[in-house]
Amino acid sequence: MTGPATDVWTVMSTARTIRRFTDKPVDEATLGRCLRAATWAPSGANAQEWRFVVLRSPESRAVVAKAAEQALRVIEPVYGMTRPDDHDDSRRARTNRATYELHDRAGEFTSVLFTQKRFPTASELLLGGSIFPAMQNFLLAARAQGLGACMTSWASYGGEPLLREAVGVPDDWMLAGHVVVGWPQGNHGPVRRRPLADVTYLDRWEEQAGPTLVTEAPPS
Ligand SMILES: Cc1cc2nc3c(=O)[nH]c(=O)nc-3n(C[C@H](O)[C@H](O)[C@H](O)COP(=O)(O)O)c2cc1C
Repeated sequence: MTGPATDVWTVMSTARTIRRFTDKPVDEATLGRCLRAATWAPSGANAQEWRFVVLRSPESRAVVAKAAEQALRVIEPVYGMTRPDDHDDSRRARTNRATYELHDRAGEFTSVLFTQKRFPTASELLLGGSIFPAMQNFLLAARAQGLGACMTSWASYGGEPLLREAVGVPDDWMLAGHVVVGWPQGNHGPVRRRPLADVTYLDRWEEQAGPTLVTEAPPS
């Protein structure tokens, strides 16, 4: 499953994270459509207090590379990650290989920093609710166009001061997320998720929903 897709069910169910990219740069028109889709997302009171910072200059990419390097040092012990042996073809090795490649090549790709303005009356979770739908729209628009994308936590794993300073993000704006984009090396594919029946309750906590509600089949 690769290339562009317009059916919304196909787009949503195959918008798998892509961590390995070709050398082909992402053109402005394609990236612009992802950003446009981001602006169609809902936000509390329709405030739209989001700003999207495209990180593309060599200077910006160098900072992203530094943040990625730092993030790798944080996640290696947390996830017990090591660089996989060349001959290891297990799922874990393949995922780790892609993760290392993403971090190693981070400075080569375009990425987007998603920021959200702070409001003293709103919790961070509530404010997150006003920016994460925009990020998801961005990801879906990327998938629809055959573009690959990976959300990263690099701003959280010690990269925030680096990115803040390089970009000049004002103090009252939060770094909500960061997405690397590129043309996929490899395929988009079906996402792997827990069965709907395991995560859906009816009226009361842990009350199982009936089979019709939790059917796995997309509409025909
Ligand atoms: C908030 C958030 C932070 C993430 N941070 C990272 C990250 O730092 N590095 C990475 O490789 N993937 C990151 N991901 C991608 C997730 O690992 C991925 O979405 C998840 O494993 C499900 O895989 P799938 O998107 O391929 O279905 C992040 C995803 C989210 C939602």
